[in-house]
Parts: sequence; C-alpha cells; structure tokens
Amino acid sequence: MKKKWLLAVLTTLVIAVLAACGTADEKETTSGSEGPADGGDKKTLVVGTSADYAPFEFVDTATSDEIIGFDIELIKTIGDKLGYEIEVQNMDFNSLITALQAKKFDVVISGMTPTKERDKVVDFSVPYYETEQYLIFDKEKGYTTPADIKGGVVGAQISSIQEEIAIELGEANGFKVESRNLIPELIQELKTGRFDAAVIENIVSENYLSKNDDLAAFPIEVEEPDYKAIVFQEGSELKAEFDKVIEELNADGTIEELKKKWFVVE
Ligand code: ARG
Repeated sequence: MKKKWLLAVLTTLVIAVLAACGTADEKETTSGSEGPADGGDKKTLVVGTSADYAPFEFVDTATSDEIIGFDIELIKTIGDKLGYEIEVQNMDFNSLITALQAKKFDVVISGMTPTKERDKVVDFSVPYYETEQYLIFDKEKGYTTPADIKGGVVGAQISSIQEEIAIELGEANGFKVESRNLIPELIQELKTGRFDAAVIENIVSENYLSKNDDLAAFPIEVEEPDYKAIVFQEGSELKAEFDKVIEELNADGTIEELKKKWFVVE
C-alpha cells in the first residue's frame, strides 16, 4: 500500500516537472520573436515586405496601420500550417534582398519574381502566382502601343523587373525611364503629368484602374514570365517546408480562394 502511494507521489512529481519544462520552452519561443535567430527552436518568422503593392501587400490607412493583402494572408496561412508566428516588417522593395541576406528577415514575400540575378544571392520557393505587365497612363493620352510614348517619360519601381522591362521598351520605342522607390509615387507622377506612363503589373494596375477613372492601361508583351515566389536566405531549410505547403495550398484551392478575395481581376 505504501509503495503504491509513493509511486503516485513520484508520478505526480514527474508530471509536474515535465509540465514546468514545457512552460519554459514556450517562454523561450516567445522571446525568440525579438528578431531572427539562426535556427534553433525559434518559432517566430520575421517577414520582410514592401507594403506599397496593393492588393499583394499594403496598408489600408483608412482602417488601420496593419500590413494586409494577398501575400500577407498567404504567408500567415503557411505559418499556421508549419507552426510559425509571422511578424511582418515593412521596407522599400529596393532594400529587401540585402536585408534578407543580412538576416534582418527570415523570409521575404513581396510579389517578388525569381530572376537569374536574384537567384545568385537568395533562394526562391516554387512560384505561387503569375502575372502580366501593363503600361498605365492618363486616359487622355489615348496610347494604344508603346511606340505612342516616343519622346516621353515612363516610370517604374527601383530594382523591380518592371524597371528592366521599361528600359528595354524605352530603347526600342524612344522614351526615357525614371524610377521611383514606391508604387504610389509612380501613380502620383502620372497624375501630376511628370510621367507619361508607368510599367506596373496587371493585378496592381487593375487595383488603381478600379479606383481612378482617369487612368487607362494596356498589356505589354515581355519575354520572361513574371512568377511570384517567397524568398529565403541562400541554403535556408525553410524552402523545403514552404514548397510543400505551397503545393498543398495550390492543390486544395486555398490560393484560388485568396485570389478571389484580394484581386479585382485574376
Ligand atoms: N514582381 C516585381 C519584381 O519582383 C515587382 C515586385 C514589387 N513588389 C512590391 N511589393 N513593391 O521585381
């Protein structure tokens, strides 16, 4: 009888000790949210984005200062599946890759297109979406082909693939290219007439077109497809687990649902 009692006390003790360990572990995880650590039992992923890109990543200033959008909901869904907390931080598009390399972020999601150049310094997930390019301009210009912009100024975002596309198009059609850090700056320059047009992808353009009656756009032909992928530090172990979940979310229709929720057109 005594032995049984002792066993019961011991078992309770062991359970109590195990439970205490559990709590300690959890505490460690939350303190890991202060910044990216290198692996270990870190549970918070610090995600960099350039929140100037509605509907992919943006702040709806009328309602809150939170960064929202298709990409943000996608990365949070992936985080949920894999058991990571997601902490989103804003930074100009131009600096995202350098910051990722410097381990300021664990991951970048920013409607970013895998290119050969970028692939040399970071790793990309499997693509989660593909878009096209538009030339967007003041409706009154009435452009129908890039050649119509001859002698004009076309804007694009610094360090984006659209900047390269604009430069090539400009050489072929005789217009100048000027770059800006943020997409809203491009739209502003269109409105003030400093830019005659801008190269912006279709989904982002459509978002502006739906809110601005005075803007118009047409698609342009480009050689390279504009896929979107999540970006990791080179050799990151996150890539394999993210790729698996992206495939799952594609197969089970979740990504399709997100498109319906966030995009004006698809
Ligand atoms: N897809 C283009 C690129 O990778 C543009 C992405 C811009 N993203 C942004 N959040 N501003 O160059």
